[in-house]
Amino acid sequence: MIAVAGTLVADILAHPVARLPARGGLERVSTIALHSGGAVANTGVALSRLGVPVAALARLGQDALGRHLGEEVQGWAAAHFLSFDASAPTSSTLVFVDADGERSFLLSSGAGERFCAADLPLERLSAAGVRALHLGYLNLFSQLGTPELLELLRGARERGFLVSLDVTWDPRADWDRVRAVLPYADLFCPNLREACALTRARAPQEAALRLLELGVRQAVAVTLGAGGCVLATPGEGLKSARVSRWSPRTPPGRATPSWPECWPAGTGGWTGRCALERRARRRRSR
Ligand SMILES: Nc1ncnc2c1ncn2[C@@H]1O[C@H](COP(=O)(O)OP(=O)(O)OP(=O)(O)O)[C@@H](O)[C@H]1O
Ligand SMILES: [Mg+2]
Repeated sequence: MIAVAGTLVADILAHPVARLPARGGLERVSTIALHSGGAVANTGVALSRLGVPVAALARLGQDALGRHLGEEVQGWAAAHFLSFDASAPTSSTLVFVDADGERSFLLSSGAGERFCAADLPLERLSAAGVRALHLGYLNLFSQLGTPELLELLRGARERGFLVSLDVTWDPRADWDRVRAVLPYADLFCPNLREACALTRARAPQEAALRLLELGVRQAVAVTLGAGGCVLATPGEGLKSARVSRWSPRTPPGRATPSWPECWPAGTGGWTGRCALERRARRRRSR
């Protein structure tokens, strides 16, 4: 079982948004719909559709959106450890999706920002059969201090969990804190903008190698939207790191047998592409 923990938000998606309304004005869109979003739902739903049992961990508010997200989680998670916070609303975002699919966000961080060590009971996860932890978005947990976060990740390592960390784009992000915890990540998959903010690199290949230098242990994938990702693994040492560009058009079955890390990268890219195509088909059929 894989635990997906951290950010679970109510995404209210408006599509297509050609322009935002002027102050006091009104614009029309075809659809406005409520979805589960954030690292917990995005990764958890994809894993469960791939047939992997998932444990979901998040902090929600005691409100209608929190109850709705809790019910949705029960539809895909084999186990869940949700905390309901009486003193903050459920985290939510207004997502403006333009005709090209590019998204812009308004975030109310709410209860999710208070995600803390008590929300991640490692001992119980271990007992439930968890073997891997995906934790995100690190830069939104403002109440979880860096020492506590390091302690949690150390605990995950001691229990033998494979650790995958995720971030999201946030102009207020504390990238120093993310750099400090990278040596606890087995896997790290930022997008290009996030990877460049973390490493000050300008190109995906350079960013991926710098992230390995910063301590990521097994694999870095710098994702490039429709361009797929650049995958880097350390090999025998950093000098012999393997780096390759991976297209979402390449089926995972064609992964290089001599480079087994390619298989998850291919599966990830393929899953991302399938999810987007499915969503586009649904929109067309409405
Ligand atoms: N338009 C697309 N066509 C095909 N595949 C795509 C497209 N967009 C994304 N993907 C697949 O999904 C992966 C992750 O996408 P992306 O780089 O947009 O992540 P992201 O910016 O971190 O998104 P999120 O904000 O949802 O975390 C890509 O590496 C690619 O394989
Ligand atoms: Mg991302």
